[in-house]
Amino acid sequence: MHKILTLNNISVKGLQRLPQDRYEVASEITHPDAILLRSFKMHDMEIPDTVAAIGRAGAGVNNIPIDKMTARGVPVFNAPGANANAVKELVLAGLLMASRNIGPAMQFAAGVRGTDAEISTAVEAGKKNFVGSELPSKTLGVIGLGAIGVKVANAASALGMKVVGYDPLISVQSAWQLSRKIEKAVSLDHLFSQCDAVTVHVPLLDATKGIVNKERIAMMPKGGVIVNLARGGICDDTAVLAALDSGHLHSYVIDFPTSALMTHEKVLSFPHLGASTDEAEENCAVMVADSIREYLEDGTITNS
Ligand code: MLT
Repeated sequence: MHKILTLNNISVKGLQRLPQDRYEVASEITHPDAILLRSFKMHDMEIPDTVAAIGRAGAGVNNIPIDKMTARGVPVFNAPGANANAVKELVLAGLLMASRNIGPAMQFAAGVRGTDAEISTAVEAGKKNFVGSELPSKTLGVIGLGAIGVKVANAASALGMKVVGYDPLISVQSAWQLSRKIEKAVSLDHLFSQCDAVTVHVPLLDATKGIVNKERIAMMPKGGVIVNLARGGICDDTAVLAALDSGHLHSYVIDFPTSALMTHEKVLSFPHLGASTDEAEENCAVMVADSIREYLEDGTITNS
């Protein structure tokens, strides 16, 4: 019997991949053979020596002490691409919300009081403050051309946006094989200087920390939008806030709110919702549960 410790709720469809006749799966268990988790931060956790594999039901693995596990020879499996559609949809929602001023406009509408006639008058008077712009007049820069970035590029293109792509790790030529919609940026600076909106889809690494910085934001045309649903730290938040305050940036869309960001009127903040759809949770859970099962039963390593 293999024992699996779960540190977060894992979709039932995923747990069904670990048959009850061979697996005991619980949130409290002694001597686990493997750990399944989503966003639980493992860095300060005492990880039992019996753990032979870890499965992260998501793409990012920065909540797991990878170096420590690698030193122990414990593979860490993730679910690349399994939640890409969910993230893509939230990026599009963020871009649409920013370009049509949906957040402040809804707040205004919800605050109007009076008779129906008074509400109508107030709404007609107030709407001039929320005039938006349309996506086909805009160029989107996609930084990171993995599963999510390519989906975002294709969808933005379908909405009429021009798309420019850059990837610090893979060649844009390779990504171009996946999506003919992406125009290649020769450098990050080149991307920023051309784009009205920039969205990041890279992991948080030393190489990606702060790549959206003061100098690059200054290269963007006035009224730009930055979207970061990937990880906090990829954008220099101090530089973004200064650009929002000066009016150079129009909006900042984030999925990892901080105290400095979440109360700012030009920040659209989601509560780490990018991968939170029924479909994505199922896809991720199934992918990592399969990886854990194949590893424990056959020693096969996939997606680690
Ligand atoms: C991811 O890294 O794919 C997401 O953070 C997954 C999640 O929301 O748990």
